[in-house]
Amino acid sequence: MLTTERLVLRPFRAADAPVLSAYRSDPAIARYQGWDAPFALAAAEAFVAGLDGRDPRAEGWFQYAVERAADGVLLGDVGVNRHDEGRQAEIGFTLAAGHHGRGYGAEAVRRVVHFLLAEEGLHRVHASVDGRNGPSARLLERVGFRREGLELQSQWWKGEWTDDLRYAVLASEWSSVRAGS
Ligand SMILES: CC(C)(COP(=O)(O)OP(=O)(O)OC[C@H]1O[C@@H](n2cnc3c(N)ncnc32)[C@H](O)[C@@H]1OP(=O)(O)O)[C@@H](O)C(=O)NCCC(=O)NCCS
Repeated sequence: MLTTERLVLRPFRAADAPVLSAYRSDPAIARYQGWDAPFALAAAEAFVAGLDGRDPRAEGWFQYAVERAADGVLLGDVGVNRHDEGRQAEIGFTLAAGHHGRGYGAEAVRRVVHFLLAEEGLHRVHASVDGRNGPSARLLERVGFRREGLELQSQWWKGEWTDDLRYAVLASEWSSVRAGS
């Protein structure tokens, strides 16, 4: 469980499946993601069941449910894929459309990155976003990620070649990022 001023990041529960299904079924939300809309309730239930008991410190994907502290509303999720024997992690993030534009996404990602780099001692956290995904790129830059490159037409994604924007932040950079924020 990770907390911020406005958010609680916690494991998913079975009761989250209908909200997960609803926000993943939004075509605008699914556009640059690894699933297709609609995302059926049964798929959401299976996804949540598959996360049950998963250790956030283990290698592989762990998915944090992002809940608003004030009222317990599920806003979205942040995924963390620890790899390289736990030395590095990739992240991904999604918020339901009705909760965009309030800084929740950056607040959640900042907390997860701080946990990984400052509290868990990982070396590097990175993220990969579609070159057209402006809000996600802005979020990563706002949090303090460095743009490492743009791989042109490197991903065959939903029937077309897409550009892949690469971002990363090192543990050695994180304290100065934090000091400046
Ligand atoms: C990417 C995504 C999570 C961004 O969510 P978000 O909460 O709107 O993002 P941020 O936290 O960066 O907030 C962004 C906006 O809130 C505004 N804002 C309002 N109140 C704010 C506050 N209190 N604090 C900070 N920002 C605030 C900012 O000015 C900013 O506006 P801008 O982007 O027009 O400059 C969301 O667009 C999304 O879920 N997209 C679809 C999923 C996706 O493609 N994910 C990428 C997979 S890697």
